[in-house]
Amino acid sequence: MWNYEKRLQFPIHIKNPNPALAAMIISQYGGPDGESSASMRYLSQRYSMPYREVSGLLTDIATEELSHLEMVSVMVHQLTRNLSVDQIKGTPFEAYYVDHTTGIWPQAAGGIPFNACEFQSKGDAITDLVEDLAAEQKARSTYDNLIRLTDDADVLEPLRFLRQREIVHFQRFGEALSLVQQRLDFNNFYAFNPEFDKKCK
Ligand SMILES: [Fe+2]
Repeated sequence: MWNYEKRLQFPIHIKNPNPALAAMIISQYGGPDGESSASMRYLSQRYSMPYREVSGLLTDIATEELSHLEMVSVMVHQLTRNLSVDQIKGTPFEAYYVDHTTGIWPQAAGGIPFNACEFQSKGDAITDLVEDLAAEQKARSTYDNLIRLTDDADVLEPLRFLRQREIVHFQRFGEALSLVQQRLDFNNFYAFNPEFDKKCK
């Protein structure tokens, strides 16, 4: 069960419309390393995670990723509201506009729609946590790229905040991986089960 708080995790007040930038930022809504795949990944993985602390961490981070999904939506919305068609024509937002007007829809900057194959839930604690570490770095790199593409302080501040949170998540997942490795349990970790290892050789 979730409780919804009607405020953003970080305030966003973008004054200048910028459809070209919106067409890039949408990638953190529905792109391969965006907040949709982050939240779905952790919400899905938590059931098979054998330790309550790690399962709880997945729930906490997934919940925060949902609030980041909301922030990205607000950024795209504020960058594209009240645009005239002339302001859209000839920009990278034009193709998106044909399909979605200025509605929010999950796709990558390159136009590829969101797809559940962009994340994994493998049911193996180490496999999943290693994916989560990589996912946080990929999200951080994407925010790096977006930060390089703008000088608008109204956009930079929330982007910097989101980037910092990916770094924190990476560190938390690192702690979770060491906790799991310290408590290796052959019933839960196929890769470290000597009987199964024999079968693999
Ligand atoms: Fe994250």
